[in-house]
Amino acid sequence: MSAPKPLMTVLDGTRVEPPPIWLMRQAGRFLPEYRALRAKAGSFMDFAYDPALASEATLQPIRRFGFDAAILFSDILVVPDALGRKVSFVGGEGPRLEPISEAGVAVLRESIDLDRLSPVFEAIRRVKLDLPDACSLIGFCGAPWTVASYMIAGRGTPDLAPSRLFAYRHPRAFQALLDRLVEASIAYLARQFEAGVEAVQIFESFAAAIPRPFLDAWSFGPIRRIVAGLREKRPRAKVIVFIKGGSGTPAEIAAATGADAIGIDWTHDAAVAAAGSRGGLALQGNLDPLALAAGGEALLHGVERVMSGFRGVPHIFNLGHGIIPETPIENVERLVDIVRQNRN
Ligand code: CP3
Repeated sequence: MSAPKPLMTVLDGTRVEPPPIWLMRQAGRFLPEYRALRAKAGSFMDFAYDPALASEATLQPIRRFGFDAAILFSDILVVPDALGRKVSFVGGEGPRLEPISEAGVAVLRESIDLDRLSPVFEAIRRVKLDLPDACSLIGFCGAPWTVASYMIAGRGTPDLAPSRLFAYRHPRAFQALLDRLVEASIAYLARQFEAGVEAVQIFESFAAAIPRPFLDAWSFGPIRRIVAGLREKRPRAKVIVFIKGGSGTPAEIAAATGADAIGIDWTHDAAVAAAGSRGGLALQGNLDPLALAAGGEALLHGVERVMSGFRGVPHIFNLGHGIIPETPIENVERLVDIVRQNRN
């Protein structure tokens, strides 16, 4: 039997030193080898649905930096795509979807087209063949509010006005859309586990735009139903919930969602987050991606604050949101060195 993987040990609630490390958006444009691969693919969706290219993009950051976890190269918007909505990516401008109307929700597919997602599951199987022994593979999906917001507005918007308006104007259709995304996400994540992922992360990127009285109804509740539904199929499924801009302590968010680990965004003080945790709950995060991009003292001090803030808890080192494309490779190498304590 092989030794337990560091990420899985922490997700089981045990602290590991040095902490396992991976970075949100580690498979992406800051890597020259990613940009080369991207140039060979057609559209972003063609890229994401090509098992050879997607598995290669997943493995690139592992080969270069030896992270403790790989995250599947794909996107949260494959779920609306597999629910029959048109999704495209406009170079440099981000995602574009056909905005959904109240009537559109009524005729949305009953269930997610898992056959359309078969290239994703094939990519997972391929990654598993080449993954180093100590490295875990993480699958993912977007939280229903975050995905619904793209489906409603058709693009990223600063304050999510279109989705809030939709929720107030069409409460039943809004609820039906969240419900559909909950069911789709359960089926999708269960299949990711069958194909070989060892944990999943649910990305709630837009919690900042939820009025607090609706936080449970729009965000935590739907996430809790995904986690519960997934565990009916896979009782031991490990789930990381990343909330950008929400409120509540990690202990409260874990109680509200059923997560094994809470991803802390870069706005939080690590020590305060740790004080609001509970025994056996893993915390992930939370270096500011811009401190990594800047390097130098900002990087060194940022890492020290994160490491000392999370000193007493099971900790997964990560950024507090995705790595930005401008990040120098040397800064990431230095980050890994500092976290693993072979400082130079
Ligand atoms: O390395 C990884 O994290 C794995 C792959 C991954 C991507 N997107 C690849 C991608 C993951 C986990 C995501 C999640 C995702 N996608 C989120 C949640 C995380 C977050 O950052 O808040 C969101 C909101 C999206 C939607 C999305 N996809 C946007 C806004 C964009 C365009 C701009 C951007 O941020 O890069 C994408 C496209 C996308 N998804 C790219 C990558 C590497 C870049 C597109 C390209 O290479 O042309």
